[in-house]
Amino acid sequence: MFNPPAWPVMDASDLQLILEADPRALRGPMSRRFAKAFSDFTQAPYVIPVANGTVSLELILKALGIGPGDEVILPPYTFIATFSSIAYTGALPVFADIEPDTYNLSPLQTEEKITDHTRAIVAVAVAGRPFDLDAFEALSQQYGIPLIVDAAQAVGAEFCGRSIASYGAAASFSCQNTKNLTSGEGGIITTKDPVLYEKLQSLLDQEPGPCLGEVPCALLLSQLSRLPAQMEKRSAAADYLNAHLADSHLVRPLDRDERITRDAHHLYVLRTRTEELAAAGFSREDLLKDAHQMGLPLLAGYQPLYALPSVRSEMTRRLTGRQTDLTPLPVCEKASYQEGLWLEQFFLLSEIKELDEILEIFGTLERRYFS
Ligand SMILES: Cc1ncc(COP(=O)(O)O)c(C=O)c1O
Repeated sequence: MFNPPAWPVMDASDLQLILEADPRALRGPMSRRFAKAFSDFTQAPYVIPVANGTVSLELILKALGIGPGDEVILPPYTFIATFSSIAYTGALPVFADIEPDTYNLSPLQTEEKITDHTRAIVAVAVAGRPFDLDAFEALSQQYGIPLIVDAAQAVGAEFCGRSIASYGAAASFSCQNTKNLTSGEGGIITTKDPVLYEKLQSLLDQEPGPCLGEVPCALLLSQLSRLPAQMEKRSAAADYLNAHLADSHLVRPLDRDERITRDAHHLYVLRTRTEELAAAGFSREDLLKDAHQMGLPLLAGYQPLYALPSVRSEMTRRLTGRQTDLTPLPVCEKASYQEGLWLEQFFLLSEIKELDEILEIFGTLERRYFS
């Protein structure tokens, strides 16, 4: 089995900061130190550490006054929390399809789903790759609907030289254990809007449960100091793999977008060349199975949210008073069931020798399928 580097990276410096934290304090000095460091890192003026990247979305939606009777547009190609945070407010989640070349929410499909009841758009930087933030900010302005950036996977990402944390009404990050900046569990809200910031603070005054404790804040502070170097390493590894897979008959990397000045690479995403594979009598499922047998744990990625039993359940209808439209969306269907392939972020922290081993597995399978 191919062994990626251990994750997370930790040493005595993490312990040092943890020992400085007072576990009895809430929103104390460590929380403030981390918020300041994250604000410096992202240039987002207001930063609130919270318990996770689900409650962060829910808090943002609530602070924007979103609740029963409202509609919120989201992609179906994301983690369930994007959906459930909307449903928990009582608003109706409305799915719009994704783009075939990025797997991120499509601005055109989103515009088609806007109604008189739409109160927010939650767009997700899937895999840590910023979506078309220009197009979504324009849409948000044109229709007067706030954009919420679900940057759960995209810590450190930049679009047109600007941190993803500075876009939209607010951005939401997850620091759960697989994420590129982790405290085991945790989340971060960023906003440039002082009024929204005050509303978020007063929600936390009323109910401080979702605040992030001092010990995880200490861990985030020490982990943040490693993030820039890790980001460089992931980017270099992704570029290396992309360059070597450019002519592959099995897979193709996601399309490049020059406006993405820093991709967070939470996941390394490839698209199966389904037509070429089918012509040779193979499918993505063969590729997944054979890669696993050769020791490379490629993942199939997300199922569409509208296909998940929890989304289709009576519970959603009870929370929102209406049933979300569960009609399959064609681009998401293809990404989920035929094309998408993922490697988790820690593979991108590998050395060139290990990256070459990954490429060798793709090379061997290509020779096997097309000989
Ligand atoms: C896109 C997306 N949104 C929200 C979340 C929720 O974050 P958390 O697990 O910290 O609650 C995640 C976590 O995996 C995510 O990937």
